[in-house]
Amino acid sequence: MASAASLSPVAQAYRSGSVWQKGRGEHLIALARVRRGERVLDLGCGTGGLTQQLAALVGPEGRVLGLDPDAARIALARHTAGAPNLAFHVGAAERLGALARGRSFDLVFSNFVLHWIRDKRAVLRALRDLLHPAGRILVQCVSSLPALVGELSRLADPSGEKILGGFAFEGAAALARHVEGAGLRLIRLEEQQGTHVYPSLDALLTWWQATTHDRFDPRTIEPAALSRFAALHGEGGAFPVRETFCWFEARLAPAHGRGGGG
Ligand SMILES: C[S@@+](CC[C@H](N)C(=O)[O-])C[C@H]1O[C@@H](n2cnc3c(N)ncnc32)[C@H](O)[C@@H]1O
Repeated sequence: MASAASLSPVAQAYRSGSVWQKGRGEHLIALARVRRGERVLDLGCGTGGLTQQLAALVGPEGRVLGLDPDAARIALARHTAGAPNLAFHVGAAERLGALARGRSFDLVFSNFVLHWIRDKRAVLRALRDLLHPAGRILVQCVSSLPALVGELSRLADPSGEKILGGFAFEGAAALARHVEGAGLRLIRLEEQQGTHVYPSLDALLTWWQATTHDRFDPRTIEPAALSRFAALHGEGGAFPVRETFCWFEARLAPAHGRGGGG
């Protein structure tokens, strides 16, 4: 296990700055109605705070696997969330077939990850193949780029390519098509709006740098441009990020002949 001194400051900044994402994730956990003894996959588990909550809910007879391609976040998750029923692996959703071969899950949980994934349908298909016939998938993701962070990113990277190129935002209608196209049955889907407020410009910059895995570097922004941004968007010194996001529940489609699981 990594020593405390070797843990990545960027991963730690994500953990402490992602308060809104954590709150929304806890809401998704409540919707998932986790039961003792269940086997759960937390896809894109980040620094593992929600994964740890899932492990507490399934109890010692259950199993939770957290998967994330960011090795620094997984190191922090392993460092802070030890429990015998909880394991963390470094890996991307696109390699699910190889990473989770032979496993089956009662619940696939994924909080604010799908907007990083370009081929959502292929990943949903891979999740379908890992799902127990009576299992369910609970996903929450961002539908479109919040205007404030779009504008901030372009101060550091005018083309937006380096910072924003990794995102693959899609709204409710497209997500519904991917779910059905992957051989899953959409049980419910909601698109909502929410606002997360950063108490200072520094807090906003630190969170966005951490969320973009250090691709956004505030030191590359001209101070005068940053001051103009702050004057235009600061509300009493705080910075509200307005976001449109979706959450959905899906299960196996009966046509898949694996028992449905209504
Ligand atoms: C906004 S964070 C959410 C982390 C965690 N689920 C939470 O709620 O705090 C998005 C996570 O998705 C992960 N991610 C990005 N691309 C991914 C992929 N292709 N497969 C799996 N996870 C991915 C990132 O490394 C990051 O930790």
